[in-house]
Amino acid sequence: MLEQMSAFFEKRLAGYDEHMLTEIEGADEFYAYTASLLPTEPDSRVLDLGCGTGLELEAYLSIQPRAKITGIDLSRAMLDRLASKFEGKDIRLVCASYFDTPFENGAYDAAVSVESLHHFERERKLGLYARLYDALKPAGYFVLTDYFAESPELETEYFRNLAELKRAQGITDDAFYHYDTPLTVDHETQILREAGFKGVDIRNNWGATYTLVARK
Ligand SMILES: C[S@@+](CC[C@H](N)C(=O)[O-])C[C@H]1O[C@@H](n2cnc3c(N)ncnc32)[C@H](O)[C@@H]1O
Repeated sequence: MLEQMSAFFEKRLAGYDEHMLTEIEGADEFYAYTASLLPTEPDSRVLDLGCGTGLELEAYLSIQPRAKITGIDLSRAMLDRLASKFEGKDIRLVCASYFDTPFENGAYDAAVSVESLHHFERERKLGLYARLYDALKPAGYFVLTDYFAESPELETEYFRNLAELKRAQGITDDAFYHYDTPLTVDHETQILREAGFKGVDIRNNWGATYTLVARK
């Protein structure tokens, strides 16, 4: 049964951090690796899309405790857990969809997203990445660590499966449902370039999870 996105994560909140850190291939390395690519200067402004309970931020704030973070997530419960971990840190949390949240233009030194954007299709991402491009400072960049489809055929199959599940369950609304529909790394790179990013590099991978860096 498909579950709405925020309900899915809220239901699994109790064991969420442990599940991510122990069951997801590469997670023992990719949070620290992703954090190591973020700006090291104090007071750097970083935007986190789908920050959840803050696993990537724990790694980042241990490197740069004075960073100024804006975290966006659909789930209030995930954000409450995050807030309880980082008392005294400069973190602004927004409980909303990153597709609907306006970003401040030219404001951020970097943006980051870990294991969140593999639920969405090309058109939605194109609009988001174009706004993200505008939100970054001139030397800004976006670090994306996420799970990707291993082939274009699999990518098509994931979207077909989701459409079939929605049809079978009589779902006709536009709410977000939790179902993995990762794009291929090539397609994600094309969208980032189309949105304006000049250079998109693959920096690392752990099975199907890759880290991409997109530069303004
Ligand atoms: C697998 S968790 C990853 C959380 C965190 N980045 C991590 O790696 O632990 C995915 C998160 O993305 C959030 N999310 C999914 N779609 C979203 C959207 N459209 N806007 C904001 N947050 C979203 C979910 O609520 C969830 O907290």
